[in-house]
Amino acid sequence: MPADKHVKAEVERLRQELTQHNYRYYVLDDPLISDAEYDRLFRRLAELENQYPGLRDPLSPTQRVGAPPLTQFASVRHSLPMLSLGNVVSREEMQEFHERSQRFLKNTQPIEYVAEAKIDGVAVELVYEQGKFVLGSTRGDGVTGEDITQNLRTVRSVPFLLGRHGSHPIPPRLEVRGEIFLASAPFRQLNRERAAAGEPLFANPRNATAGSLKQLDSSVTAKRPLDLFCHGVGRLEGISLTTHWELTEALKEWGLKPIPQRRLCRNLDEIFAFFDTLEKQRDELPYEIDGVVVKVNSFALQRQLGDVSRSPRWAIAYKFPARQATTKVLAISVQVGRTGVLTPVAELEAVGIGGVTVRNASLHNMDEIVRKDIRIGDTVVVERAGDVIPYVVKVITEKRTGSEKKFIMPSHCPVCGAEVEREAGEAAYRCTGLACPAKLKESLKFFGARGSMDIEGLGEKIIDQLVDKGLVQDAGDLYGLSKEQLASLERMADKSAQNLLDAIEKSKTTTLPRFIASLGIRHVGEATAQQLAEHFGEFDDIRKATEEELQQVRDVGPEVARSIAHFFAQEQNRRVIDKLLKARVHFPKVTARRTGKLSGQTFVLTGTLASLTRPEAQKRIEALGGKASSSVSKQTSYVVAGAEPGAKLDKARQLGVRVLDEDEFLRMIA
Ligand code: IVH
Repeated sequence: MPADKHVKAEVERLRQELTQHNYRYYVLDDPLISDAEYDRLFRRLAELENQYPGLRDPLSPTQRVGAPPLTQFASVRHSLPMLSLGNVVSREEMQEFHERSQRFLKNTQPIEYVAEAKIDGVAVELVYEQGKFVLGSTRGDGVTGEDITQNLRTVRSVPFLLGRHGSHPIPPRLEVRGEIFLASAPFRQLNRERAAAGEPLFANPRNATAGSLKQLDSSVTAKRPLDLFCHGVGRLEGISLTTHWELTEALKEWGLKPIPQRRLCRNLDEIFAFFDTLEKQRDELPYEIDGVVVKVNSFALQRQLGDVSRSPRWAIAYKFPARQATTKVLAISVQVGRTGVLTPVAELEAVGIGGVTVRNASLHNMDEIVRKDIRIGDTVVVERAGDVIPYVVKVITEKRTGSEKKFIMPSHCPVCGAEVEREAGEAAYRCTGLACPAKLKESLKFFGARGSMDIEGLGEKIIDQLVDKGLVQDAGDLYGLSKEQLASLERMADKSAQNLLDAIEKSKTTTLPRFIASLGIRHVGEATAQQLAEHFGEFDDIRKATEEELQQVRDVGPEVARSIAHFFAQEQNRRVIDKLLKARVHFPKVTARRTGKLSGQTFVLTGTLASLTRPEAQKRIEALGGKASSSVSKQTSYVVAGAEPGAKLDKARQLGVRVLDEDEFLRMIA
């Protein structure tokens, strides 16, 4: 059915409203409406766009995800090269930069600067034509980058359309440059989920960002809450701006976010003061910064200064002292995780980095050790980024004496002695021991953790004792512990035993997503657990689901489906689950929040379909987020008419509800 005037107007209005709310939320950080209200507008728009495919528009706020995966990225030549920056690391060097600039400009006038935080992310360029986002690319070698438009479209702070919220007109073509980054909290969350799924961890937020932007399938990128701050432009035509400061104001008016920490500085002292303030704030900022970028404010002076060997002469990176240090690898030990993964850890000669003593660094996995060629006895550079676990950046091979030893992954688990295995195509080595106490301890820690069953007081020391004394052999045993047993543990007073007992009791009332997440199924983190709960609604349906049924769930591919089905097929796991349910661990049934291709749409089936039964058709509709109903009303989106349809078809015609034949319906659910 073609959309009438009113529908078109409503769609237009919703898009404008949502764009406006995005701007308030992402750029001004000052939303006018609640998240729930935003969701309501968003769902209404999605519903109309689904109902009237003729109104679909790639620039609609609903179209951030869903592009088909690419096979490779196309190359993009930047119309002006994306240069890099020279570095200074001290006040003296900063002063030299200033004096050099003054000399170059023949001391004709005082130089005003803009100092900005240097964001530790990944540089990108975005092109807007007539205010529309048309192309996004990586920096690449500075001259040619990769077309990552699809991935950048998933970034909420990348507006599809520029707005005009001030006096600066929108230029006919804008090439804006900035830094894509992942804030520290979502970075930690991402690594937690990867750890839960037995996947290798990212060393730092920058690597996670780079990895996310390199995805050929933008639905993966969409799951990472990337963000963008803009710090400059490429070629700028059709608009007169005279200073960098003015540019930052204009960017904001157009709906782009400039670097939040920026200051106009009239002399070196003001630059130093800004640098010191920012360095103090560094640990409290929600994202990683690694210094200050100092830029000559006037575009005219920037042009006079020009470039030198691939860096502008008008800007410099004034870096914070590195949170890196050089130290020695004394030994490499192995930790056994919940899923049995053996993680090599470097034991280091203690070294202070930015006020913290570092003794260990994660080496992630064997591939990483081989790639970086880390040997026992090596002198290495270690970095501590924010509150991330320190990691080895590189080996200083010049310091090798010849007595360094290569690390060999043990063939047997250092904790239980069972054989260690490496699955084909996997970076991880795993302990195969079914009863490995290290695995059990880790999985109990995971089970009781905050995002899981949230058992307060069930700390590492207690778990160690419970396992070592044989009081707990699986998570189910936690619910059978007596106060006497708990009180018998070391450093456990009567009162704390009671508190722990209460916490265990309290954890019995939980939610379905939490319960699923706490089981520690490989590849099933909090997000997937949530999807499973929403899709199936009941635990029993999840544990009985076939791989095929599991694959109907959003984000669940063949590998994840296999892992879930395999988990529930194992006798040992089934026993633990039964124990938990018998102990009265309970959770309310989940009513699905409908998201998917058919979200917000109601279908009524009438007559017989040739290719699938009615329950099958209903399941497909629901799997795609739609609703299957038995009676036709004005709220019905479609009536699907098979052979020999009944009175529902007449009713649909009476009410003007769109009727689909079987072919049309099959295409819709394909
Ligand atoms: S201005 C000619 N401003 O740092 C390059 N860059 O180390 C002008 N960066 O490639 C860049 N924060 O990706 C500028 N506030 C900021 C920045 C910033 C981070 C990145 C940028 C650049 C790299 C150089």
